[in-house]
Amino acid sequence: MSAADGWVVEGPQAPNGRAVDVPGDKSITHRALLLAALAEGRSRIEGPLLAGDALATRGVLAGWGVEVTEGAPGSGGKVAWEVRGRGLRGLVAPQGPLDCGRSGTTLRLAAGIAAGQGHPVTLSGDPQLLARPMGRIRDPLRALGATVEGPGDAARAPLFIHGGALRGGAWTPEVASAQVKSCLLLAGLCAGVEVTVVERTPTRDHTERLLRHLGVELTVTAGADGAQRVALPAGAGPLPAFTLEVPGDPSSASFLWAWAALTPGGDVSVEDVALNPGRTGLLRVLARMGAQVECTPAGSRGGEPVGRVRVRGQALRAVEVGGAELVALVDEVPLLALLATQATGTTRVRDASDLRHKESDRLATTAAELGRLGAQVEVLPDGLRVRGPTPLHGAVVESHGDHRLAMTLATAGLVAHGATTVRGVACHRDSFPGFCERVAALGGRVDALEEAPC
Ligand code: S3P
Repeated sequence: MSAADGWVVEGPQAPNGRAVDVPGDKSITHRALLLAALAEGRSRIEGPLLAGDALATRGVLAGWGVEVTEGAPGSGGKVAWEVRGRGLRGLVAPQGPLDCGRSGTTLRLAAGIAAGQGHPVTLSGDPQLLARPMGRIRDPLRALGATVEGPGDAARAPLFIHGGALRGGAWTPEVASAQVKSCLLLAGLCAGVEVTVVERTPTRDHTERLLRHLGVELTVTAGADGAQRVALPAGAGPLPAFTLEVPGDPSSASFLWAWAALTPGGDVSVEDVALNPGRTGLLRVLARMGAQVECTPAGSRGGEPVGRVRVRGQALRAVEVGGAELVALVDEVPLLALLATQATGTTRVRDASDLRHKESDRLATTAAELGRLGAQVEVLPDGLRVRGPTPLHGAVVESHGDHRLAMTLATAGLVAHGATTVRGVACHRDSFPGFCERVAALGGRVDALEEAPC
């Protein structure tokens, strides 16, 4: 017998009310690594996410000649990385294409840095990443003066980028995207020019917070229409070396919170988790749906608020979600759809069409796979409609290589009646290695699927 790439979950199971932690935040780990590489001297990152996407960023930095080594463990024995910074323009011309794996954040943020260096860089990755849209960074990087080439006029990676002497400028992205915003801020930072990003709908601001923490005088001005201008001044930097302890990832914690919210009397606390308001939209929506949500702030690290969040399950009601709120839970839409299957009424998710371009077409895959468990989820041009409450029953479902869907389906298995088999779950390590162990710490079981080899 060999362990196959799948999970079996027997439901329903209730969480035991304990408190757990979750691995380091993915978005913050990417930015900590990249800014440490661009800083002067040796930085230390404690509790980084040790998972596929963050390791892809570390691999890209290795290709750029940045040394990342393991340092003495941090508080509670946490892994610590030491990064020897090379300064804003000191990266070494890579020998070949830089491999971004399956990580869109790695590729889009690295593209900004590449545009600000004096040497050409090719950014590539797994077929799944090469299928994702890159026009959103191609156009503004070209407007700043960089050469960006690739298949289909660089609508997709691999991207060949050659910049260096950029001109400054302002850009209004068509899609709300923290990756696009961060790409442009990093390009301006490395090239030493002024860059302004006008966001019609504000997105997660981890790059801005860490830059400010390092002394960069970014300005953020809000317009009357809800838009905001994020302006990086010319000649920002050099960046000082820093130490940062990465807080837990609220997107990973969301699977555990959702399990509690979906279980009458269910109770889950997650400690030391990032509470950036640009990331905690699901908690606000959960409270509106009727779950009991208790946040206990515990200060801030690297400009990011952190704390403990307890969620307790109660009867849920349907909600309408769109606009800025959607952006603040953009990675949690599959979970929101699952929650909506157990809420009374019809839930409507709007402004979510960009989810078609994540690790899978998340609108289609979420609707199809939850549907196999008995849910009524309809795909609409800009989002989803979910009717509830609908009893869920075990079935065989598929992750489509999408880490967030794999864990949403396992969470569904925890609350469905009978056995759920989730196929294609290795991808959960892209963002949340230790998912099954956290479920176990909360008294639940997600077992590896055992299959005879063919
Ligand atoms: C991320 C931004 C989001 C999110 C992704 C991580 C980031 O993507 O979906 O998981 O770290 O900047 P977009 O900015 O493309 O929406």
